Amino acid sequence: MNQTIASSIRTIPGHPKPGINFRDITTLLENPKAFRMTIDQFVQRYMDQNITAVAGIESRGFVFGSVLAYELSVPFLSIRKAGKLPAETISQSYQLEYGEDVMEIHKDCVKPGDRVLIIDDLIATGGTVSAAIKLVRQLGGVVVESCFVIDLPDLGGSKKVQEEMDCPCYSICEFE
Ligand code: PRP
Ligand code: HPA
Repeated sequence: MNQTIASSIRTIPGHPKPGINFRDITTLLENPKAFRMTIDQFVQRYMDQNITAVAGIESRGFVFGSVLAYELSVPFLSIRKAGKLPAETISQSYQLEYGEDVMEIHKDCVKPGDRVLIIDDLIATGGTVSAAIKLVRQLGGVVVESCFVIDLPDLGGSKKVQEEMDCPCYSICEFE
């Protein structure tokens, strides 16, 4: 684990409710050295994998994903919460701790056979990224990997996504 990156992430005890240690990436983004190291680590991993598009998950996946797409010189695709994307979309619901939410993607943004890298800041239960994987696959894209700055392995999401979605997960840091 890269200590410069890991130590740039702030922990907020009790947010958004008692008992949760919230891992806050705003302090990583405010640290140019840590931000550059994060992007460089992803670039090194994906530069030779024939990635043809990077799909970022709203909202914090957009911050890392847009820079990564720029560095890889490939299109950036937006996966957004329902009702935000203006053109024709497909939708996928997913479980939250309480209730459910819906993610959408523009129907025309994935080209059949595209080799897509999905990116978000963090994987917890894996529900969000599983919805994103389903959306990309439904449009004929191949999800090469899903990647994250942070994995919370105790919540089981990365294991579940690898086993049940048959999609590799890569993360830079792990936290309890
Ligand atoms: C957080 C995080 C991931 C998701 C991970 O986003 O940025 O997208 O939760 O959780 P999961 O693996 O249990 O699905 P959040 O839903 O808080 O939305 P936001 O980025 O818009 O704040
Ligand atoms: N940080 C940010 N997003 C999250 C977290 C966290 O610790 N847990 C679930 N979503």
